[in-house]
Amino acid sequence: MSARLQLGVLVSGSGTNLQAILDAVVQGRIDVELKVVVSNRPRAAAIQRARDAGVPVAVVNHKQFDSREAFESELVEVLRGHGVQWVALAGFMRVLTPRFLDAFPDHVVNIHPALLPAFPGTHGPRQALEHGVRFSGCTVHFVDGGTDTGPIIAQAVVPVLDTDTAETLAARILQQEHQTYPWVLQLLAQGRVVRSGRRVRVTGAEPLQFGHVNPPPPSR
Ligand code: GRF
Repeated sequence: MSARLQLGVLVSGSGTNLQAILDAVVQGRIDVELKVVVSNRPRAAAIQRARDAGVPVAVVNHKQFDSREAFESELVEVLRGHGVQWVALAGFMRVLTPRFLDAFPDHVVNIHPALLPAFPGTHGPRQALEHGVRFSGCTVHFVDGGTDTGPIIAQAVVPVLDTDTAETLAARILQQEHQTYPWVLQLLAQGRVVRSGRRVRVTGAEPLQFGHVNPPPPSR
């Protein structure tokens, strides 16, 4: 049996995080097999990124389902049909219920553009600016039933500059997202992420060190 992480990625939008994952897979930097990309939006730019990389794509349009449960059941069926074991949300703009999460228990991760638990939801960079924080960043976390509330795996930090707009801050955070998400997927592939309740430890040869706020590149 392959030791590689059998991954499905859910997207809704531009897909730059998906691209970072695709690049890491194609360049052999992470032990991940990207089985399928699923978009809930038929026109998401992310779809073309997956196609260009030769990865199977499915569109499961939430608008075509009567209920959230029916939509999520179809998502589960598509992912299982492609042999997916882990699910990464990458700019996926629907909240998932237990109907979905129970199908992949403790195997769904998300990336969020803020240092959780501060500024969950859809406007992380803008809220960070409005609140006047001096640092923000991104968080990769396990997904639970709440909005951006699950156990935190990794965070990367960026400064907030006096000259920042929501857009410039979001762009600075996004650069870190593109480093952090592939790195976390590699930690998961290596079985180095250990959960104990809300606390998550990274084990092995290159543990996170104190003061080491941003991730190194993934290593095999
Ligand atoms: C990212 O900032 C991600 O953290 C958030 O939505 C944005 C998606 O960007 N959930 P992309 O689609 O990966 O370019």
